[in-house]
Amino acid sequence: MAAANSTEEVESAGAAATPHGAGPGSAPASLAGGATAVAVTALHKHYRVFKRPPGLYAAMRSLWHREYEDKQAVRGITFRIAAGERVGFLGPNGAGKTTTLKMLAGLLHPTSGRVEVVGHTPQHRAIDFLKRITLVMGQKQQLLWDLPPADTFELNRAVYDIPKKQYLEMLGELTELLDLAQIMKTPTRQLSLGERMKCELVAALLHRPQVLFLDEPTIGLDVSMQVVLRQFIRAYNERHAATVLLTSHYMEDVLALCPRVLVIDQGQLRYDGELKALVHLLRPEKRVTVRLSGPVPDGELARLGTVVSSGANQVVLQIAHSELRAAVAHLLERLPVTDLTVEDPPLQEVMRDLFALPKPVSAGKDSP
Ligand SMILES: Nc1ncnc2c1ncn2[C@@H]1O[C@H](COP(=O)(O)OP(=O)(O)OP(=O)(O)O)[C@@H](O)[C@H]1O
Ligand SMILES: [Mg+2]
Repeated sequence: MAAANSTEEVESAGAAATPHGAGPGSAPASLAGGATAVAVTALHKHYRVFKRPPGLYAAMRSLWHREYEDKQAVRGITFRIAAGERVGFLGPNGAGKTTTLKMLAGLLHPTSGRVEVVGHTPQHRAIDFLKRITLVMGQKQQLLWDLPPADTFELNRAVYDIPKKQYLEMLGELTELLDLAQIMKTPTRQLSLGERMKCELVAALLHRPQVLFLDEPTIGLDVSMQVVLRQFIRAYNERHAATVLLTSHYMEDVLALCPRVLVIDQGQLRYDGELKALVHLLRPEKRVTVRLSGPVPDGELARLGTVVSSGANQVVLQIAHSELRAAVAHLLERLPVTDLTVEDPPLQEVMRDLFALPKPVSAGKDSP
């Protein structure tokens, strides 16, 4: 089997030749009024991947005869994000999320299509643009390993040319929000993963960016640290009216932070709209968890809905929205119920259903 073991990025001549702001419809009208923070139109990214079959002979042969294939990581996505929105960017592994975020941050050049972030074309990497955005990657670190976080913060102050007064204000605000005072002077290598991630966020936010691209910011963190970071991201968004585009495989992050989601699969947008509407569209049933103090005749529960799981004294049912009221009344009046909760189906299941569908689903709102 052929193995892809080397990659080379294709910098698109087409994208490079498109001057910023040129041509009809070049600047989204809403940018002028400051309403649109991110505008993406028909965005493509193809990687050029060097292919070589395994084995010594193939290695030798590849020295003078190289084969490449085009990997289409992002295939024509279009969306807009208004200033101040918190949007979840979801999709399975390899869907194209990180590639898209890197294009939005200007680290990768699109193969074709248009990107505008706070009125800038990211790939130009204008200083004003860099000062207004940040990209945090949970998998990558910008803190200097052998020095305390305070030193990286100082370095970032110099790099971003942040006035001393604003720097101290911001540092004070962030350290307080994240409860960091104790660890500011500890070398980074001695910090726990969660402590390090908090400091990464501070380093990324000291210049008070308006747009946050967060790529799995809670990866590997324990549940309570995930909650702390979520609260922090939300507080920053509210205090500074910042725009947040966040990827995460933890659905709790998305539920807690993102009223709107963009769902991408195999480089294509599958859904753009309210998270609630997506759940309702794909899974109009509710999950009812019932705790029982005694046995219930076989079939009694199955008459009310689909039994998802059944244990010694707890049963989980899936019940259609339209029948929920009657079913709950029946459960409470006729059966030995000690506790009952009604929830939406788990988001993981909703996503699984979405990826199983052959076509994008309607967003239930005006598509961009
Ligand atoms: N530098 C590269 N060279 C070649 N192919 C790449 C490169 N970076 C990513 N890809 C490919 O592009 C596709 C999209 O990758 P990307 O990292 O954007 O996915 P993702 O949605 O962020 O996935 P994950 O959830 O695993 O982080 C994948 O098939 C990946 O193998
Ligand atoms: Mg990724």
